[in-house]
Parts: sequence; C-alpha cells; structure tokens
Amino acid sequence: MSERGIFITLEGPDGSGKSTQAGLLASRLEEEGRKVTRTFEPGGTGIGKRLREIILDHRSAGMCGVAEFLLYAADRAQDVHEVIVPALRAGRIVVAERFVDSSIAYQGYGLGMDIDEVKVVNRIATRGLVPDLTLLLDIDPALGVRRATDCHEADRIEQRRLDFHTTVRNAYLMLAAHEPERFRVIEAGGRCISEVHEEIYNAVKKFLVTHTRGD
Ligand code: TMP
Repeated sequence: MSERGIFITLEGPDGSGKSTQAGLLASRLEEEGRKVTRTFEPGGTGIGKRLREIILDHRSAGMCGVAEFLLYAADRAQDVHEVIVPALRAGRIVVAERFVDSSIAYQGYGLGMDIDEVKVVNRIATRGLVPDLTLLLDIDPALGVRRATDCHEADRIEQRRLDFHTTVRNAYLMLAAHEPERFRVIEAGGRCISEVHEEIYNAVKKFLVTHTRGD
C-alpha cells in the first residue's frame, strides 16, 4: 500500500500501560501540530466494540481458540477498513493499541495456534498493512496482570494463568528481536509514567525525523 501517513502501534502484555502511553503520545504529537488518529483493538470501531464484548465476556468461556482468533481478525479488518487506512491516506499519524503482533503473541504462541495460519488470516484482515513503528512496552507479566486488574475485574483473557502471560511476553520479545528495524522495546515495569512517555516520545521523534520530510 502507498499510504502517506505513519502507522505506529503500541504492543505489550496486559497491564503494560499501552492506553495511558498512547494517550500521552497522541496529545504530545497533536501539540506539535501533527494530525493524529487513535485506535485500539479489539474495539476501536462500533462493530469492534460489539466484538470486544463477545470476546472478553466471561459468558464466552466455551469459546474455542479458533473462534476467538477469528473474532480478533474480524475486529482488525473493520479497524483497518474504517479507521486506519482512511487516516493513513489522509496523511495522518495513526497511534494504535495492539495490531497483528497481539494475535501472533496471544493466539499463536499463547494458545498454540499455527503461526503461519495466524499470519495468513491476518494478511487478509489487514490487506497486508504492516506498522511503520512498533513500541513494545515490556513488563513482568505478574506485575502487568496485577496492574491491569487493580481497577477492574479480570476479563476472560486476563484471568488466564500466569504461564500464558509469560509465554505472551516472551513471544513479544522474540518478535522484537526478529524485527529490530520496526520494534523499539521500552521497559514499562517499575518506572513512572512520565519517564516511559519520554522514552516513547524520543523514539517516535527520532523515527519521524528519519522517515518524514520537513522534520
Ligand atoms: P486490551 O486489554 O489491551 O484492550 O486487550 C484485550 C485483551 O485481548 C488482552 O488480554 C489481549 C487480547 N488480545 C488478543 O489476545 N489477541 C489480539 O489480537 C488482540 C488485539 C488482543
């Protein structure tokens, strides 16, 4: 695809602070006069919100891994179609919480689904769109899950055993090691929000300087 905008994703285990950091990053970029669109998966669109409820609800306890995976892919297809591609075409910076790497880490490595199948379905869902820059917020999963469930009851995914979340974290680190050009790993555990934000902002600024004109 030949979009003119910049596609930035925030990834990481549950409780790594993606939403907080996405908000801070978007505000700071907007203060500089940049046009920013935020989204998140699952749930960044109206249809996605309904899919999110189905996926995370405890009443979906009987949902098999493939069904879960396909619902995430459906949510992603709608997000790409309705939010991400139009924003990129308009030259905007898209700041997205979670994208294909989440499905590889959670459904691929976490639930043990075939990684190639995960990638093929996601290629269909995203029409081959790949983030320009991915910020991986790394955190000890025990701390992350505790942090995520401090302010709400654990959802269906958060309540999975600690070894699931450890597998997810290790998968993320492996993905980052395989694609150092795209990924920046940010330590998110045991640091204050503003410190993490500064590191994220500096990484993004550096990326924008080398990848856009006039910065
Ligand atoms: P969130 O809490 O970051 O909004 O994400 C909700 C849960 O969905 C979280 O536990 C991670 C999980 N998830 C997947 O398992 N696969 C995916 O593709 C996505 C987008 C999220």
